[in-house]
Amino acid sequence: MCRPTYFDVTYSINPWMHPDRPTSTQTALSQWKLLFETFAALGHDVHLIEPEPGLPDMVFAANGAIVIDNKVLVARFRHPQRVDESEAFQAWFTTGGWSTVRQAEFINEGEGDFLFTGHEILAGSGFRSDLRAHEEVAEFFGYPVVSLELVDPRFYHLDTALAVLDVGEIMYNPRAFSQRSRAELAERFPDAILAGEADAAAFGLNALSDGVNVVLPQAATGLAAQLRERGYQPVGVELTEMLKSGGSVKCCTLELRR
Ligand code: ARG
Repeated sequence: MCRPTYFDVTYSINPWMHPDRPTSTQTALSQWKLLFETFAALGHDVHLIEPEPGLPDMVFAANGAIVIDNKVLVARFRHPQRVDESEAFQAWFTTGGWSTVRQAEFINEGEGDFLFTGHEILAGSGFRSDLRAHEEVAEFFGYPVVSLELVDPRFYHLDTALAVLDVGEIMYNPRAFSQRSRAELAERFPDAILAGEADAAAFGLNALSDGVNVVLPQAATGLAAQLRERGYQPVGVELTEMLKSGGSVKCCTLELRR
């Protein structure tokens, strides 16, 4: 995770970002701290990367890389405003002693667009990551990659439209995907939890599950009920300040899979 010390909305690269609307770094910091403490209370080992001035979106650590089986593929951002974040993540992993660290060749926004189910990697395209990055990821990690096309600009990263709950179990917002990708998801995950419009708009799918507890935005009450019905323990947190930048729980969290 990355503390939102320099959090702000100074540019707009997704429909949630309105630079003319006021933001509060103080609120961002206290909301982020609660998320951090929630993870700690659930027994997760949280590591921090130092935030850098001039990189207000660095709090969205999920975008910095993809980490599976100890291997690290560092992001290559689409927008010039975020390009410099890659160097910080590359340095963090290299100095942290991770042995296989490489920057992606094609535009690749890390775990924002690449989600590991335990069997395969679900990969988003349409707004940020390049389709060629999907192939590069399959080759680098040695897992099959399922390409999914996003069509709603509000849900521009895969992790805003879909979350992995457990090995082979997901929840998603079907309306965020093209007809073809919707059919693909329905076929692969017939038992998936489907999110309604209000929960999706509250960024309810930007969630993080450890297979038991699912940390998600507090406002996604419908999803929380659906999760409870399936035997998961929903844990609501408030990250309304981050939502002004188009991010929430999952965006703030990069998973380190050793
Ligand atoms: N403002 C950031 C952007 O548009 C938000 C990133 C959210 N991260 C995510 N994993 N969806 O790039």
